[in-house]
Amino acid sequence: MTPAPDQLVLRRPDDWHVHLRDDVMLEQVLPATARQFARAIVMPNLRPPVTTVDAAIAYRQRIEAALPQGMAFTPLMTAYLTDDISPDELERGHSEGVFTAAKLYPANATTNSAAGVSDLACISAVLERMQAIDMPLLIHGEVTDPDIDIFDREAVFIERHLIPLRRQFPQLRVVFEHITTEQAAQFVADGDPLMAATITPHHLHINRNAMFQGGLRSDFYCLPVAKRERHRLALRQAATSGNPSFFLGTDSAPHPRAGKESSCGCAGIYNAPYALESYLAVFEEEGALQHFEAFASENGPRFYKLPLNEDTITLERTAQLVPAQLEGEGLVPFHASEVLDWRLAG
Ligand code: NCD
Ligand code: ZN
Repeated sequence: MTPAPDQLVLRRPDDWHVHLRDDVMLEQVLPATARQFARAIVMPNLRPPVTTVDAAIAYRQRIEAALPQGMAFTPLMTAYLTDDISPDELERGHSEGVFTAAKLYPANATTNSAAGVSDLACISAVLERMQAIDMPLLIHGEVTDPDIDIFDREAVFIERHLIPLRRQFPQLRVVFEHITTEQAAQFVADGDPLMAATITPHHLHINRNAMFQGGLRSDFYCLPVAKRERHRLALRQAATSGNPSFFLGTDSAPHPRAGKESSCGCAGIYNAPYALESYLAVFEEEGALQHFEAFASENGPRFYKLPLNEDTITLERTAQLVPAQLEGEGLVPFHASEVLDWRLAG
């Protein structure tokens, strides 16, 4: 057996799904993402959502302005699909290098998704165009039908919407975002090469019990909600398998403390500050360090048809205690008060 390494040097990773927010929150959370990742796919669910090329350009400028001096980071912007977004606006944004992809939120599926798509039939011309110009579609894959149990919403989405969508638009590149179930992992593993999935650190570490351990723990509440243990195990298998259809997307989703600690608490886990250490722990526990770099730094850009990053990062085997809470907005980071075995150097 080869001894466990004390240091890992790898191609700089990217985050293929992050919520950077805006204003004061943007300023607080951006450095954590920019420290680790060269690029990130930035979610458009602001209030109001990013539905136009001009709004995306303005948001991109605010992100660039919030970046601390000396940090290199490229935000990749996304368009928020609505029932009446125009195919021409999307195509213009894509061809001008503003929109890397477009995000489908089923209406009311999650935070700031009220303006999302009420029925896929409303956007068939948009999907047709995206397929024609090879613009990736990013999907929050949950049905919103109140008759469907919240823990079944992702699996039902596959049957009701994703399978028909693949049939109708077989050449459309699709990322099934933040998958949480064995059904989704299986669907993507079996799927065609134009279908991929991101997997978050938290869905690899926690199952649904975490939300109820000793009381109601809103810091572990996110959407799609964490599922049973067998799903977590299936996700760990998928992420660490070496299958190029799975790649890193943190879904880091910070909310002010008052938004989490409320009678109607917000969904979202803030995992950006220790994201790489968190993923790395999983790959090490699964005996799959040899697949970590592909998951973190290669599968994503290959799927998005973007160049791989050329610089590197170093992770060292140094224990670090994650703080219970961070300064500023009072954010509680994922792994709060736990000790992580690895630390990103620099
Ligand atoms: C996200 C947010 O807060 O914007 N919340 C979450 O739990 N992941 C929205 C989302 O990605 O679903
Ligand atoms: Zn998200």
